[in-house]
Amino acid sequence: MKRVNQLSNQSSECRLKVYIRTFGCQMNEYDSEIMAGILTDDGYGLVDDTSKADVVLLNTCSVREHAEDKVWSELGRLSKIRENKPLTIGVCGCMAQKEGAKIIRRFPSVSLVCGTHNFHQIGELLNEVKTANPVRGKTSNRVKGIVNIGESEKLPFFRLPVRKDGRVSTSLAIMRGCSKFCSYCVVPYLRGKEKSRGPEEIIDEIVHLTEQGFKEFLLLGQDITSYKYKSKMSNEWKDIDLSYLLKEVNSIDGVERIRFITSHPSGVTSRLLKAVSDLPKVCEHLHLPLQSGSDRILKLMNRGYTRDFYLNLASKAREIIPELSITTDLIVGFPGESEAEFEDTLDVMRKVGFDNAFMYKYSIRPGTKAAGMKNEVPENIKKERLRRLQEIQREMSLKRNENFLGRRVEVLVDGTKKKAPSKLLGRTRTNKVVTFKGEKGIIGKLVDVTITGACQWTLQGKIN
Ligand code: SAH
Ligand code: SF4
Ligand code: F3S
Repeated sequence: MKRVNQLSNQSSECRLKVYIRTFGCQMNEYDSEIMAGILTDDGYGLVDDTSKADVVLLNTCSVREHAEDKVWSELGRLSKIRENKPLTIGVCGCMAQKEGAKIIRRFPSVSLVCGTHNFHQIGELLNEVKTANPVRGKTSNRVKGIVNIGESEKLPFFRLPVRKDGRVSTSLAIMRGCSKFCSYCVVPYLRGKEKSRGPEEIIDEIVHLTEQGFKEFLLLGQDITSYKYKSKMSNEWKDIDLSYLLKEVNSIDGVERIRFITSHPSGVTSRLLKAVSDLPKVCEHLHLPLQSGSDRILKLMNRGYTRDFYLNLASKAREIIPELSITTDLIVGFPGESEAEFEDTLDVMRKVGFDNAFMYKYSIRPGTKAAGMKNEVPENIKKERLRRLQEIQREMSLKRNENFLGRRVEVLVDGTKKKAPSKLLGRTRTNKVVTFKGEKGIIGKLVDVTITGACQWTLQGKIN
């Protein structure tokens, strides 16, 4: 299915304007990009603010309670705005999948609830909303709502819309869903079971995107190391895994860098590490969520590995890929986590030396296995543990970044620094942000930069 962006042949005056606001992970952002592509094809104009919009779509996340709270309060704000201005409000993504019609019962001003399996039908669904609510301009807070959260067996295939904002990096889902069922996590319930896309389709989409000027590809999957697809090649059925797919993508002309997230530790094979090491376009970065450094907690989390397994994997990975940067996700305050068990996490952190970490307080997700576990950790202890985790990570990130001082590294130039537009921003192969002075003309290009400064978050450099 070929999608062509028709933005340029429509008068901007008569088009309905849509604002898509994303609250979730990279997969959620990717889904927003697909919806943006579909709606521009359908003649909508994209805007970046509620005040300019006729339609506001919230693409939501349910991974922690806090993520949901943000959406509930945004719905309150939008409902107020809608009292004075005609506005179609839609809720998409994981919270839509989880709450369904309950969203409309709580906020009757919402006219569309579109789940994680239905985002590709966004155009038709908005048309249905229009048909069900024929009088545009009516600001009554009671609208006829449409709810679509049904799951289909087949994965939708899309090519992303042409984007002309000069960006050179893009993401691309190679699979959807997750079948790991970590005991704390709501994702498998909301995104369905793991389904991989066919390699031919993925390669076709990447070739198409290179023709639009994209050079860096972030392959997405909640559990990407489980990627597998049975494919017929030279008359033989073959099991394609992530390593094989990386090799295929590496051979596409125009692709300059390949990244992939998120790797589940139990799925990182020596073959995959070799592929990262051998394939020149695959970047030396693994996002490898640890979650906890305690064997008892890892078992309760249903993570399927032990602390020693993780430590061995991290050192093997660094042996095979010496430049490798490893980032992680960590949860503090899982039910029953003792001080000693929390310290086990600190210990693994120190041993591995993560380049960066996303750190979270455990949040109860109703319906998950952990939600029924006793010995909840009090909020003040969670807070304190999070603070200690962050403190150690700050030291680690700085140390890892200081290793780059004086070194010459390849940087893909992303754009200019928001707060200092005279400076350029880019990323190293290890996914570190570098700022440096340079001509705007090199945006989108690979350049060599010598690192002259390092802080916890970023590197500073100068072009050679
Ligand atoms: N598929 C990825 C990421 C899933 S969600 C993976 O397996 O790593 C991103 C992160 O959110 C998780 O890695 C975990 O650290 C965190 N997370 C998930 N559920 C959570 C919960 N109930 N409370 C706190 N953090 C959670
Ligand atoms: Fe959630 Fe675990 Fe699946 Fe990641 S691997 S999405 S944490 S269930
Ligand atoms: Fe959130 Fe859904 Fe992603 S719950 S983390 S938006 S898969």
